Order: sequence, then structure tokens, then C-alpha cells
Amino acid sequence: MSQVKSDALVFYGATGDLAYKKIFPALHMMVKRGNLNSPIIGVARGEYDLEKLRARAKESIQKHGQFEEESYKKFCSLLAFVGGDYTDQGTFRRIREALGEANNPTHYLAIPPVLFPTIIAQLDHSGCAKGARVIVEKPFGTDFESAKALNRVLLAKFAESAIYRIDHYLGKRPVNNIVFFRFVNSLLEPVWNKKHIESIQITMAEDFGIQGRGAFYDVTGAIRDVIQNHLFQILCNLTMEPPKALDSESIRDEKVKVLKAIAPLKAQDVICGQYEGYLGEKAVKENSKTETFAAMRLHIDSPRWQGVPFYIRAGKNLPVTCTEIVVKFKHLPSAYSTIATQPNHIRFRISPDVKVAFGMLIMAPGEDMASVLTEVQGNPTPFPNEKEAYERVLTDAMAGDPTHFARQDYVEEAWKIVDEYLSSDHPVYTYDVNSWGPEVVNEQILPLGGWNNPVVTKSK
Ligand code: BG6
Repeated sequence: MSQVKSDALVFYGATGDLAYKKIFPALHMMVKRGNLNSPIIGVARGEYDLEKLRARAKESIQKHGQFEEESYKKFCSLLAFVGGDYTDQGTFRRIREALGEANNPTHYLAIPPVLFPTIIAQLDHSGCAKGARVIVEKPFGTDFESAKALNRVLLAKFAESAIYRIDHYLGKRPVNNIVFFRFVNSLLEPVWNKKHIESIQITMAEDFGIQGRGAFYDVTGAIRDVIQNHLFQILCNLTMEPPKALDSESIRDEKVKVLKAIAPLKAQDVICGQYEGYLGEKAVKENSKTETFAAMRLHIDSPRWQGVPFYIRAGKNLPVTCTEIVVKFKHLPSAYSTIATQPNHIRFRISPDVKVAFGMLIMAPGEDMASVLTEVQGNPTPFPNEKEAYERVLTDAMAGDPTHFARQDYVEEAWKIVDEYLSSDHPVYTYDVNSWGPEVVNEQILPLGGWNNPVVTKSK
């Protein structure tokens, strides 16, 4: 596994949306913290120049990051621009020149995957691929076959250990805390199994629509956009066996084992929805059946989890923006069973705030023998200047640590779970904006005790 520190970053799609919203703010913070001191080369097609790129970066950092004049100046001193068509060998000659003495560059392909074959061939031909690593963005392909084809393109010139597949949920500390929390607290392991856990729910709710991303979203949908990647990663963190060691491969091996133990989704275990008004969004096909909401039930066929249902739900235009997990425990038979009306739970809130809470029963006020649910909450003290997910994954990629990136076998296993369902003709139910998805979810995919609808206190 290559732990060589990269000595230059070349990012393709420098004038695009992702660069504007996420990459510039992340790179600026990396420079600010002293984690990036090497050349940063922005590449884009069309009319652009370095001055314009600096101005765009400034605007982006001011809008989406934590702008600071001094570190912005330093960032600008490292920034170079190469413009040109990706089919033109001259573009890549200029990139190689701009790389100067760098021997281990990282090429970040923040561009549509259709361009990958061209760019990879050009990188190889121009000598830019030598000693290099490559970063690509999720979704990795659109199904199992296309993911394999995409990987063949990458593997033709880069070793698997040099390919970094970004799933920015793995750059979120609260997502990584799930694994940490499970394995550092000795209290949990004895009960973290089918004997004690009744079910687990994962909800990723967003109170906004597709925000002008119709062209991307309409060929993607909620399952490919966030469930097959972000939420399956969360599922793996909740359910994987303890890794033998803390190296990247031991951890990633355990995640792959979880996915291998999940059967392909069946129609009766999924409900898809589309919010009212979606068909009027820009760049959405007439009569589109793309799902903006999905709720599913799945099982992990392993000694630890046999028989435990896992419920996953994600959607746009729901009542709140929140990602939350609820682990529900079973009732134990005892003389108190009739009083213990609610199960214990552990709640992990990933965003917008971060929380780990234990739901326990205590005696209700008054003289009756009744119980009331209370939560013991662990709210981590906000850490000043906490790294944002993109900064964390880009810092790791530059440092050569692949732990928080998706490995190809993981990606393939994840597609195997959803492919059959996605290619089948299935109903897509309309739901009201600001609701928790189509009503039929509560008839067909209903967790015992109902769905956990996160409550978010809006900051004033
Ligand atoms: C992206 C999806 O990967 O994640 C978006 O393409 C989604 O549709 C976003 O809104 C959510 O990320 P976060 O970090 O805001 O929860």
C-alpha cells in the first residue's frame, strides 16, 4: 500500500460545480493548516485563465468555506491553471510541464466518468501517470457492469492501491465514530447482535429538492445517489466484525464481508417515491420514473445478524434535513415486561448536529409503577475548525491513506444488492413535498414501533 506523500495535485473540472462548492474550500483549508504545500494545478476546458480561476476560488471560499486573506494568498501562490481540450495531447504536455519536479502527483477527476478513458490514456501517454495516484467521485458506475468497466479503464494504468474513490460520507467524523464507538466501549460488543438487537433504522432526510441538478439526478435517483454508497457505508460501520488490525485493508475487508452477506433486494422490500412537482424540474425527462425517495428493508445473513431487519430510507423534499440511525434493542422477558413499554435504543445523529444517545426507561413521575423513556446523551464538544468531509478525504488521499475510500470489491458488492431491483419495472409513488414519503411505506416497509422521524430544532 502506497503511503508516499503526493507532491502535486492536479484537478480536472476546475471551473465546475463541485470545485466551486467543495474542492476550493477544502484545498484552502489544507493550505491553511499546512497540509498542502505543493503545486495545485486546475485544469478545465474552455476560455479561462489563472486570474479568473483565482477569482472563482476566492468567491467559492468566501461563499462555502472559511476565507482568510493570508492563506488564500498562499493558496494562490501554489495554484496554476492549464486550459485545453482533454482530447488534445498538448493539454497534457502542459500539465506535465506545470508539474515541474513533482514525481508523485495526484490526479483528481472531478468530471463526468465518460471522460475518464480519454484522460487516463492521455495521462499515460504524457508521462503524467508515472508514480501518480488518481481520485474519482461516486457514484462509481451506474450498475455492477459499468462499475467493472470503469475500473478496467482505471486499472489499465493505475494499481488498485493508487485509486482513491471518494464517498464523502467516509470523510465525516461522526460516520467513522460509529465503528470507533462500537469497538472502544466494552459495554456494547456483548449486546451488538441478533440476540439483543431487534432492528436498525438509517434515515437520510433532506428538506430540499434536486437544486437544479436535474441532468445528473434524473439518470441517478436516490438509490444510486446516496443509498448504494453513503448509507451502505453507514450500514457497514454499524454491522462489520471487528477488524484484525487498524490498517486500511483489514477495515475494508470487513466491510466487503458485510455486503457479501446481503441478498439482492426484492420488490417487496423496497418502496420508491417521487416528490410532487419533480416532473417540472429542469432537465428532468417527461414522465420520468426516477425515485427521489426510497425506503428498503434488508437482512445480513451472518451469524451475528441473522433475522435482524435493517431499514434504510432516504429522500429529497422531506420535512427535515437530518441523517440519523436508531438501533432498537429487544425486550427481555421478565416480571417487568408489561411495564417496559418501549425498547431501549441507541441513536446516532450524523447531521446536522452530532449526537450519540442511549434511550433508557426510568420510573415515570407519580406513584404508579410506570416507565418513561429518557435519553442519556453524549454530545461531543464542538471541535473548533473541525475538518469538513472533503478536506479530510483529500488530505488522506494526498497522504496516501486509503482507509476512508471505497475499494473496488466493495463497490461491486454494493451494486449487486441494488442492481436487480433498479433494472426491474417497479412502481414509483408520488409523495407530497414536506412529507415522509409515500403512505404505502407504512403498509409495506414498517419497522416494529414505526419509523424514527428525526426531529430537528432549527437554529434561529
Ligand atoms: C451527495 C448527493 O453525494 O450527498 C446529494 O449527490 C446529497 O444528492 C449530498 O444532497 C448530501 O451530502 P451531505 O454531506 O450534505 O449530507
